[in-house]
Amino acid sequence: MYVLLFLHIEISLCHTEYFWFEELISMDGPKEYGLRNVSSHCSISEMDDNDLSKLLDKPRLNIERQRSFDERSLSELSIGLTRGLEYLESTYSPGGRSGLDTPASSARNSFEPHPMVAEAWEALRRSLVFFRGQPVGTIAAYDHASEEVLNYDQVFVRDFVPSALAFLMNGEPDIVKNFLLKTLQLQGWEKKVDRFKLGEGAMPASFKVLHDPVRKTDTIIADFGESAIGRVAPVDSGFWWIILLRAYTKSTGDLTLAETPECQKGMRLILTLCLSEGFDTFPTLLCADGCSMIDRRMGIYGYPIEIQALFFMALRSALPMLKLDAEGKEFVERIVKRLHALSFHMRSYFWLDFQQLNDIYRYKTEEYSHTAVNKFNVIPDSIPEWVFDFMPIRGGYFIGNVSPARMDFRWFALGNCVAILSSLATPEQSAAIMDLIEERWEELVGEMPLKICYPAIESHEWRIVTGCDPKNTRWSYHNGGSWPVLLWLLTAACIKTGRPQIARRIIDLAESRLLKDSWPEYYDGKLGRYIGKQARKYQTWSIAGYLVAKMLLEDPSHLGMISLEEDKQMKPVIKRSSSWTC
Ligand code: GLC
Repeated sequence: MYVLLFLHIEISLCHTEYFWFEELISMDGPKEYGLRNVSSHCSISEMDDNDLSKLLDKPRLNIERQRSFDERSLSELSIGLTRGLEYLESTYSPGGRSGLDTPASSARNSFEPHPMVAEAWEALRRSLVFFRGQPVGTIAAYDHASEEVLNYDQVFVRDFVPSALAFLMNGEPDIVKNFLLKTLQLQGWEKKVDRFKLGEGAMPASFKVLHDPVRKTDTIIADFGESAIGRVAPVDSGFWWIILLRAYTKSTGDLTLAETPECQKGMRLILTLCLSEGFDTFPTLLCADGCSMIDRRMGIYGYPIEIQALFFMALRSALPMLKLDAEGKEFVERIVKRLHALSFHMRSYFWLDFQQLNDIYRYKTEEYSHTAVNKFNVIPDSIPEWVFDFMPIRGGYFIGNVSPARMDFRWFALGNCVAILSSLATPEQSAAIMDLIEERWEELVGEMPLKICYPAIESHEWRIVTGCDPKNTRWSYHNGGSWPVLLWLLTAACIKTGRPQIARRIIDLAESRLLKDSWPEYYDGKLGRYIGKQARKYQTWSIAGYLVAKMLLEDPSHLGMISLEEDKQMKPVIKRSSSWTC
């Protein structure tokens, strides 16, 4: 298949170019249509994707406007590798707002904004971190009441993402640009844990600005895992960085940042880390426990869904941003191959619905050879009891982990939402994930959205899996706790799947508690009713997550910043493993 694909690339590079019409969006919103060069020779599937009638459609301020032409799909690759960043040129969805202190989301409202919105903006601005006078990020939490600061006074890369999106949506891109450049500089540092040197591309988990009032200097310290609890490097940081660079580019239309040699190199270094060849037999990324948002031992080692979904999204985001010079081109080719394999693997083996569960339940074991149905030798007795009750007839999800003889059937919110946003999930799978959320509302949403994972692990299993972690007791923190930050991801997923009413419901729930409870980091309990035992207050990403959710619902055209359309070329052949015994 790949041989064919690249032959096609070679040949099609020679094709001539023709024009298409498309929407040009100015800083004030969609205004005019423009002409743009694109390569010719559409394949049938491409015609499908870029249906001319759609392109000639009048611009509408809805999610249709975001139909992404920036996704360098396989079909597009097959018609020419000559297009660089100009590709993104007319596709941005501008924040384009003025009046930096006025939250655009409330200013533009025809109705009275919720009073929480103004409070949230104020709290978000209080969390700003400055380096030599320039805002470069937001601290994780501004909780003075808490006795222990730990590292909550630092700018976390993953925590900054919802802040960044809020600023972009509000027409304040500078802080995002500063953050991207600052973290890029940090990537260039030599990183060591004890005597061991980390990969060049690693991005920090967090950084801190130290102000010296006497000498009037600012310096930065960064943590790449060498200070983190558990000493694990954050695999997600680099992916979030690429995803954010695309969001910035889409939102502002400023292509110059992504085009700089520094950003190009930064992307290539991150990609080098995750595309390198080794002993892997799977296209998924092998990870240590605690390498992502769940940053301590929770049994997510192996191939956690959160990382796989972010990996997929980062690869797709990087594709149109990479320059097609000698170096970039090589990466583009590697990305395309990986995306093919990764989407097939994920959509086939991580996907679980009623039918699939029934098939696994009836699996035979000890199969050898290519014809094996139970490829990873999963022993049906290892399926936990709860999953049989949890699985509705309608609905499905990507499970937590798949590796030899080990399927982690837990449901994880972030991975499933990112799977929808990145179109790792097919439209059918995306709809099924949303069906599951509706069917299992009490378990997954409860009284305070959203469960980070379901279910919690307890007793003996908790001892073994978490290593007796007292912060991760059942239904608390990363072990089935409820995290308001996930609100923005679920809202985005709701909008993408055409279910804004669900988003409205979850935002209503959040509005009944968040401000009153001083923006906690997480909630505890089966229903998420209690403020988390060790939760910080004024947790920045709880605040920003709420704002982003609000702005997305108010103006769904923002979705394009953090969503990628399905690539028709990656349509899976989801083979339902027809039961071996039937
Ligand atoms: C906790 C969370 C982590 C987050 C950090 C800062 O360590 O587990 O995901 O990035 O706090 O808020």
